[in-house]
Amino acid sequence: MFKLTGKIAVVTGGGSGIGKAISVVFARQGAEVHILELREESARETVAEIQEAGGKVEAYSCDVSKQQEVNAVFGNIPKVDILVNNAGIAHVGNLEGTTEEDLDRIYGVNVKGAYNCLRSAVVKMKEQGGGAILNLASIVSHVGIPDRFAYSMSKGAIHAMTMSVAKDYLSANIRCNSVSPARVHTPFVDGFISKNYPGKEEEMFHKLSQTQPIGRMGKPEEVAALALFLCSAEAGFITGCDYPIDGGFIKLNN
Ligand SMILES: NC(=O)c1ccc[n+]([C@@H]2O[C@H](COP(=O)([O-])OP(=O)(O)OC[C@H]3O[C@@H](n4cnc5c(N)ncnc54)[C@H](O)[C@@H]3O)[C@@H](O)[C@H]2O)c1
Repeated sequence: MFKLTGKIAVVTGGGSGIGKAISVVFARQGAEVHILELREESARETVAEIQEAGGKVEAYSCDVSKQQEVNAVFGNIPKVDILVNNAGIAHVGNLEGTTEEDLDRIYGVNVKGAYNCLRSAVVKMKEQGGGAILNLASIVSHVGIPDRFAYSMSKGAIHAMTMSVAKDYLSANIRCNSVSPARVHTPFVDGFISKNYPGKEEEMFHKLSQTQPIGRMGKPEEVAALALFLCSAEAGFITGCDYPIDGGFIKLNN
């Protein structure tokens, strides 16, 4: 089960955290993985890990917020069976703590970046007769958490775009779903703790772990396992759905 042999998968932000774990697992299951990544050096690390394990992988230096760059990369990929829109950036701040530049930056990567890749991938998937798309939403797509104004805006858009694409491309045999993680321990989380809570890193790590009723953060590999299922043939009856992977955050935090 869950084999991706012969499939070509595009993963954005595959150089770190969840995107790296997804790239590694997809390659292990037989997919040829194409990584679009802003930071070439981290992409190279993922490529080395996959190649050492005997997997097939290519990495491209690409800023997903730039449509021309995204179009150029997709132009080089022969077919796209799977797209994982994973690249994303964070911002901590409420409405008043969010500048126009903050909002535009988060929109550019998290919303427009996903849109750019969706556009390129859907054209190819239509020509090929189908495909599977997975978008990285978040618990903030569904519930309010403090000081995440711009980030919540972007992940709400991911959830809405997922349903829109799923509906419009039913007849093209393209499935589109999203996953909504609570906190997953990645460089993304370490980065925003050290930037926003300097000197209180350990205390904040513990506090953020405890906000998941299960008592810890998630692991990138746990998200990758759900991503694998949703992008596999075994999930062929699933489209237009969002799957929380949140240690009980949405339903058990009361
Ligand atoms: N870690 C969490 O707690 C968590 C929770 C919910 C949702 N998510 C979402 O999961 C996704 C991955 O998060 P992560 O924690 O693995 O992050 P991460 O920072 O560890 O990795 C993100 C990767 O995306 C790349 N990237 C950033 N901007 C890019 C751009 N413009 N073009 C191409 N690549 C770019 C980065 O270089 C990095 O390699 C994000 O969309 C994030 O919002 C994360």
